[in-house]
Amino acid sequence: MASDQWTTRIGFILAAAGSAIGLGTVWRLPYVAGTEGGGAFFLIFLVLLLTMGTALLLAEFVLGRHTQEGAIHAYKRIAPKGQWQLIGTLGMIAAFLLLSFYSVVGGWIVTYLVRSFSGQVTSPPDGDYNALFETITANPWEVGAAHLAFMIMTIFVVQKGIRKGIEKASVYMMPALFILFAVLVARSLTLDGAWEGVVFFLQPDLSAVTGETLLTALGQAFFSLSLGVSVMVTYSSYLGKSENLPRSAWSVVLLTILIAFMAGLAIFPGVFAFDLQPDEGPELIFTILPAVFGEMAFGSLFFSLFMILMLFATLTSAFSLVEIIVKPLIRGKEEKRVKMTWIVGLLIFAMGIPSNLSFGVLADWDVFGDIFFNQVDYLVSNILLPTGAFFISLFVGWRMRKNDLQEELLRGSNRGTGLFNIWFLAIRYVVPIAIVVVFISMI
Ligand code: PHE
Repeated sequence: MASDQWTTRIGFILAAAGSAIGLGTVWRLPYVAGTEGGGAFFLIFLVLLLTMGTALLLAEFVLGRHTQEGAIHAYKRIAPKGQWQLIGTLGMIAAFLLLSFYSVVGGWIVTYLVRSFSGQVTSPPDGDYNALFETITANPWEVGAAHLAFMIMTIFVVQKGIRKGIEKASVYMMPALFILFAVLVARSLTLDGAWEGVVFFLQPDLSAVTGETLLTALGQAFFSLSLGVSVMVTYSSYLGKSENLPRSAWSVVLLTILIAFMAGLAIFPGVFAFDLQPDEGPELIFTILPAVFGEMAFGSLFFSLFMILMLFATLTSAFSLVEIIVKPLIRGKEEKRVKMTWIVGLLIFAMGIPSNLSFGVLADWDVFGDIFFNQVDYLVSNILLPTGAFFISLFVGWRMRKNDLQEELLRGSNRGTGLFNIWFLAIRYVVPIAIVVVFISMI
């Protein structure tokens, strides 16, 4: 039995949306859309999010709520024999590695936020934003301290548990995130020349679509919804039996889409208004955006706001990544939570150090042809997450009892079995096959 539970439905939805909405949605999506042709990519991403993404999200919800267990034990409860719980182990390893580099970017946000208070970031010497980014990320003490600060904030919340920690923080941070984004979108859309950016972002040019675009969009859809790691299994294990799961899943997906739209509308108009390149890559928010904000009235203030919302988005995702590891380790013994959260959090910090140094001291360290940071990112995003997603869909679609699935899915709802049948086909066949196709074409 779960020893802690979400107090309200909205608390659960905001925490799950908080996990989903993070660097992937706010930072990776705009720059991938920028390099993959803008509107067409975004459109495909939306379609995949609403179909396969939602189906898999619902599968994780069903599994977590049905067993009331997190990674490892949810699988063991249903299949005591066999090695299915390895899906949970894989998820814990993936979450550990994912947060190790994710928190490095979290640290950059902390650094930029602190520096933005003195206006230093939006007006660097000689106006050279790239040089500033390089100087900052090359200084091991500054980014190291910021990285540690980010992990301590995460640990601080997760050690307080679901209701008093994660839910409470999410209930404040997520609405703040929406409001700050709305302010930024309003500012960005009123810039001279903003329209060109809106067109780039929203007008689909389907001729630019290749097989590669589809695959990238599928990976992005799973990443954006935190799927394949058992994060959503863990979060829904704290849900009461009366909640309507399809409705919760739609709410999470719609909030993610809303933020993805707002991120695009906050970023691209500025990029075009100031004649910058939209396909800059991962540094987009640290080199292009300070430049964009630097050109505006009160730019430094708006940039600080943007960093605050990035910090909230990143933290609420980090909570879920720590929670999925802590839960199976304490197994309901809440008195062990504080100690275990610190151990796990600090180990993740330690694992992140080489990623952090990849931009400075270890920049020349060649790990199979790239820096350490990029290799860990690649291993997690392109291999571990899709593998996890594949096995979760197999497990739910083939190993769980159909009656249990149907009961879990339709509980608290007045929908008929039509909805269930469509979802069942999707999770049994469409999702696993699509993942295999993506995999094969990646290799
Ligand atoms: N969904 C998060 C984001 O978009 C990343 C994430 C992936 C978080 C998997 C948890 C698990 O940034």
